[in-house]
Parts: sequence; structure tokens; C-alpha cells
Amino acid sequence: MFFKNKNIVIGVTGGIAAYKSAEIIRLFKKEGAEVRIVMTESAKEFITPLTLQTVSGNEIHDSLLNANAELAMSHIELAKWADIILIAPCTAETMAKITHGRAEDLMGAIILASKASIYIAPAMNMNMWSDKSTQENFKTLSKREISFIGPADGEQACGDVGKGRMEEPKDIVEFIKNDHKKGPLSGKKITITAGPTREQIDPVRFISNNSSGKMGYAMAEAAVEYGAIVNLVSGPVSIIPNTSVNLIKVNSASEMFKKVIKYMDDSDIFIGCAAVSDFKPSKYSDKKIKKDDISNIDLGLKKNKDILSFVASNFISAYVVGFAAETDNVDTNAKKKLEAKNLDMIVSNDVSDKSIGFDVDDNEVNVYTKNNKFFLKKDKKIRIAREVLKIVASNIN
Ligand code: C5P
Repeated sequence: MFFKNKNIVIGVTGGIAAYKSAEIIRLFKKEGAEVRIVMTESAKEFITPLTLQTVSGNEIHDSLLNANAELAMSHIELAKWADIILIAPCTAETMAKITHGRAEDLMGAIILASKASIYIAPAMNMNMWSDKSTQENFKTLSKREISFIGPADGEQACGDVGKGRMEEPKDIVEFIKNDHKKGPLSGKKITITAGPTREQIDPVRFISNNSSGKMGYAMAEAAVEYGAIVNLVSGPVSIIPNTSVNLIKVNSASEMFKKVIKYMDDSDIFIGCAAVSDFKPSKYSDKKIKKDDISNIDLGLKKNKDILSFVASNFISAYVVGFAAETDNVDTNAKKKLEAKNLDMIVSNDVSDKSIGFDVDDNEVNVYTKNNKFFLKKDKKIRIAREVLKIVASNIN
């Protein structure tokens, strides 16, 4: 499920290879991606919109000026939604349009409005590919960091043999996969804590909190996408992480502490996302405490170790990131924590706002490093996670 949580727009233009787009969609979906299709009018001469709608599971986007389609998901929303845009097959005409920044159709407009990584898999007659105009367009687009996949050499639909065939669907998907493995945290080892901890009072009762683990798991997911080797030390939550993550399940803060110390010996980065219980009962009863056992009602709480502070002061060479969930004076408190715990970065959010607090899919945060502040406006936790990790990467590389 390499592309889990990835939003992919596949642009299909009018070439004979358009029939292979269905296979590309299927392969991306198999890897967990959410796929939306943009078709040009000429693409519809080669493959029906119904085919691509059925394989992708979503309605086709084909018009810039259709009021109903714009109401459902505007072209700007679609452009922002995409993490990856792949145009396959891409005709010489579409390449030329993109080179000139044309926005008269949906495909062109989306390319201009999007910040996604863009890939083009050209497909055209060998002479059209080698023509000077196309070659100049190819060079211009490559300079703009648009990645080209192919074209491949071989027999063409028109009978010619040469360079111009679209690469095979599995090779296109593999190319994009490999490109994403060379991420900004390639080869870095990261230990992340996530979720709540449980401080047992007796075998059936415990002290815990509302943390769902969503932010920590999103950090782990984004770190894998960026090429890191990830240890996720997690309290009890109901999320299943990316299979590339080394998941270490714990219950209590002291178990979490021990595992973190173990994995930090070999980590470059620590990210403390867990809502670690600050206190635990001073004694544990190995038998269920009876209702009328008054002598055991008083829990006599004692403090848990601060894992984040401990890591920051004992693993000096690691880059250490904390999270601060606050309900008041959010930024002042976050900045104080950055200093008090001697962190490299703190990510603060206001959990009094229910739409970005515990157990929801969105977040909005301020990121403080020793010298900078970044505001990441409300977005899905996975996207916030990617942005936070980009800042981490720019500070350690
Ligand atoms: O001081 P406060 O608990 O608000 O700080 C939050 C940050 O500290 C989070 O990154 C959290 O994971 C970390 N923390 C910790 N161990 C504790 C308490 C908090 O690692 N015992």
C-alpha cells in the first residue's frame, strides 16, 4: 500500500495508449491511492469515460466550464487535492500546451494551479517526439521539475519502430514509487511516539486520555513517504500503520520510555507526538480493587518521566521535535516548552478548537524552531505531517 493516503490525478489525453490508462489506475488503486481522472475531449475517442469512471470509482473530470462539476469539486480544489499528477498518455499537443502555460482546458488549468509533483508519460509517433518543437518543449518542462517517464522505444501503432511508445503501466507506477522513495529524509532513522499511555491502577482500571494517535501515525506515514526508517512507539490506539513502519506497541509511559531509549540509540530524529500521561498511580494493585476497599481508593499519584526532555538532554546529536497541545496561551506556552525542554522544534496546536483537536482528521499548527516560525493552515493531518517533516529535513540536511 505504498500510495496509501496519496491523492493522484491521472490526466488522459488522446492517444492510442489511452486504453492502458485503465491499468495504470488499477495499479495505483491497488497500492492504496485515491485516484481522480481528468480527460481531454480527444481522449474520449480512444477510451470511454465510463470505463475510467468504473475503474477509478470516481466521476470523470472533463470540463473547465461546467457549473455542476465546479460545484462538486472545482478545478482549483482538484488541483489542490492532488499530491501527484500523472499525464499518461501525454500527447505532443498537451506537452505544447503545458509548456506555454495554457489554461483553456481543465488539464492545463490544473497543472497551473497545482503544487503537486507532476509526471508526464509521453506517447506519440517517433517523428513527432524527435521533432525540434517537441524536444524543446521536453527540455523546458524538464527544467521546471516536471518528470518524464519514457517514451519507450519499440513498435508503434502506426507501424513505425522508434522512440515514442508510452512506457508500460507497471513501469510508470514503479518509476513514481522509486521517485518517492528518494525523499528528503532518505536513509534517516526516526523514532516517533504516538497515542495515549495507560497507567494501570489495577488489572481492569487505568488512567489515560483522549489521544487517538492520528497525528503521530500521520507523522510516521509521512516519514516513510520521505524515505526514512521509522520506529513508531505507540500507546493503545485502533489505527493500523503503513507496513514499512516498525511498530512497537506499549501501554504505560514507563514502557514507552524504555522503548524510546532503546530505539534512540540508533536514531537521527525523535518526534514526541504521544500524549504521555503525566502521572501514574503510586502503587499498582495486582488484584481488582473492591468498591468498599477504602484503603486503596487514594491513588497517590506520582509523576512520570518526561520522555521528550530526557531524549533532548541525553541524545545530543538527534534532532528533537515536540508537540504541544494547548487550550490557552497556545503560542506562549509552546515557545516556553521549546526552551524548557531544550528542543529543536515544537509544533503547537489549539485543542480547545474541536475541529483540530483530539480524534479528528484535521490539524492547524504553528511550528517553532530556535530561529523561525511557520504557520501551517488547517489541512488533513497527513499533509500537516508532510509539511512539518519538510521543515525538519531542511534543518538537518
Ligand atoms: O509538557 P507537555 O506534556 O505539554 O509537552 C508535550 C510534549 O512532551 C509532547 O511532545 C509529548 O509527547 C512530550 N511528553 C513526553 N513525556 C511526558 C510528557 C510529555 O515525551 N511524560
